[in-house]
Amino acid sequence: MTILVTGGTGKTGRRIADRLEALGRPVRVGSRTGTPPFDWADRGTWKAALHGARAAYISYYPDVAVPGALDDVRAFTEHAVAAGVERLVLLSGRGEPLAEAAEQVVRESGVAWTIVRCAWFMQNFSEGYLLEPVRDGVIALPAGDVAEPFVDVDDIADVAVAALTEDGHAGRLYELTGPRALTFADVAAELSKATGRDITYVPITTEEYAAGAAEHGVPEDEIEMLTMLFTETLDGRNAHVADGVRAALGRPAGDFAGFARDNAGVWANGG
Ligand SMILES: NC(=O)c1ccc[n+]([C@@H]2O[C@H](COP(=O)([O-])OP(=O)(O)OC[C@H]3O[C@@H](n4cnc5c(N)ncnc54)[C@H](OP(=O)(O)O)[C@@H]3O)[C@@H](O)[C@H]2O)c1
Repeated sequence: MTILVTGGTGKTGRRIADRLEALGRPVRVGSRTGTPPFDWADRGTWKAALHGARAAYISYYPDVAVPGALDDVRAFTEHAVAAGVERLVLLSGRGEPLAEAAEQVVRESGVAWTIVRCAWFMQNFSEGYLLEPVRDGVIALPAGDVAEPFVDVDDIADVAVAALTEDGHAGRLYELTGPRALTFADVAAELSKATGRDITYVPITTEEYAAGAAEHGVPEDEIEMLTMLFTETLDGRNAHVADGVRAALGRPAGDFAGFARDNAGVWANGG
């Protein structure tokens, strides 16, 4: 009863694989460094990664809302069902038409499915592309004063593991957010409080963000993807809190203040 965890070395997948292993479930990490390797860009790797798997967690890379993701998720779903997978859990994003199209593919797969449709991850600040800006003390983003109910990826992992291993989650779409929406200025204040350092948020334009990222050597396609995501998801459409963590687990979602406290060491003294 192997469970394939794509993105199994990433923010959500690593936590899911750890939890499944702790439960004694046979886990296969689906990533380019897995054994066998799994590469979204090389469909020739998918058959071996899916061999013998009965459930799969789908975390697309780089983002489920980029052009091309839909085709890959559709093809992967077909491969998975043909390989005998009976349960699919898709990691999705909020307020993104392309992400919803990928959700629809999984919903129509013919096997048990669960969608975890997530807010921005808190861990973008501690493990992702916002780690260095926080260490430097300045978060400059084209996010104005929009609020976002950041979700703790530990909560996402708990929900995904429940959906992969327990009854009662098939056919459910869980919208996962934290318990309150924070502006990026609120985030900077929480991070300052937790670290005792002065961390500020500077709202900038999308053009300023793109130019700054290019200066720092961020590849062109990554800049395009990030600016597309900022424009799509930070216009206020996702500012509301949802109750998916409680619906799936019967407990409240983790708050940003606790996340900031627990990770203060990551940002201390420039890391
Ligand atoms: N970040 C957010 O706030 C957020 C919010 C909602 C939804 N999401 C969704 O979360 C998903 C993952 O985003 P993330 O930024 O948090 O990434 P991540 O899961 O932290 O890291 C990337 C993972 O993908 C693997 N990977 C990279 N390139 C790959 C490739 N070509 N083929 C197979 N695996 C590959 C990496 O392993 P290897 O390097 O070993 O291959 C690693 O396990 C995306 O689908 C995104 O839409 C993110």
